[in-house]
Amino acid sequence: MNRIFSGIQPTGNLHLGNYLGAIRNWVALQNAYECIFCIVDLHALTLPQDPDELRASTREVTAAYIAAGVDPERCIIFNQSMVSAHAELAWLLSCITPLGWLNRMTQFKEKAGKQRDLAGLGLYAYPVLMAADILGYKATHVPVGEDQKQHLELARDIAGAFNRRYERDFFPLPEPQIFGTGTRVMSLRDGTKKMSKSDPSDYSRINMTDDRDTVALKIRRAKTDPEPLPGTIEALEVRPEADNLVGIYAALADQSRETALQKFAGQNFSVFKEALTELSVATLGPIGGEMRRLVADPGHIDAVLRRGAERAAAIAEPILREVKDITGLLRP
Ligand code: AMP
Ligand code: TRP
Repeated sequence: MNRIFSGIQPTGNLHLGNYLGAIRNWVALQNAYECIFCIVDLHALTLPQDPDELRASTREVTAAYIAAGVDPERCIIFNQSMVSAHAELAWLLSCITPLGWLNRMTQFKEKAGKQRDLAGLGLYAYPVLMAADILGYKATHVPVGEDQKQHLELARDIAGAFNRRYERDFFPLPEPQIFGTGTRVMSLRDGTKKMSKSDPSDYSRINMTDDRDTVALKIRRAKTDPEPLPGTIEALEVRPEADNLVGIYAALADQSRETALQKFAGQNFSVFKEALTELSVATLGPIGGEMRRLVADPGHIDAVLRRGAERAAAIAEPILREVKDITGLLRP
């Protein structure tokens, strides 16, 4: 059986990268798979969070899923901390994960910064919790953006380590699903950095709730070079900022980079940027509006999450019980 698990951290502003790299693909996948989409609030705690902001952000991410078209009836939508199996399984898996595997994780190095001794244990153990999220449901497929590839390989390694240690085919090895042109959306200010929630510059990203004027301003200010758009992909690829904007256009229009580029080859950026603004607003405008409407009714969102958590626990708890039996832990 095919089962999808994916998640987003409730830490600040959801942006076009989250939409194109993750949420948009989920909407398409929900017809073909059993889907579980999580708001990973325990992962958010790996860096300091204001409690009120964390609550608000958890509801906002939930609203984004629903507004983008993820159906809470067909899919399971819930926040991670409501299902205690995630944290329990993370401990059990951490005991079979060699430190050497975690030491390779580039995201930890980026997030911990120079003062690594001050970074929390949770930040270091983060990929093990992510493996528990996925393996706790025996998920077979994980649709994410490209930045999560390394974490997914680790989840596969941990699944393999468990299966070998206990000599059985218990966890399926989860397959990453990284597809389309929007798997790595870069910052609008620096084509070598990914668009991220934590970038201090508001002009670096388009948020899912930005209004038309804000989107227009950010795209107008997006870094480019003085040359018009080139005619070939090879010439585009050596210009990271231009390449990124064409990539965003292509992802929004559901076209290849080649097709998008052909339409604007030889034109000035001002023309292209106007077209990109129109396309962004046409896609994000209705989603942002629906997000605002949903967030205004937190009672409804909380009910969706509670119901999702019940359905999620009904899958994860029996799997955790089996893991405990296999591991040799006595249960009530
Ligand atoms: P995060 O914002 O780190 O919680 O990421 C949530 C999801 O969005 C993951 O599937 C990421 O891979 C994806 N994602 C985050 N940033 C980007 C980006 N700049 N481009 C494409 N996908 C992204
Ligand atoms: N680590 C992911 C990110 O930052 C979020 C995440 C947590 C996740 N658990 C997951 C994604 C399980 C997919 C599957 O983007």
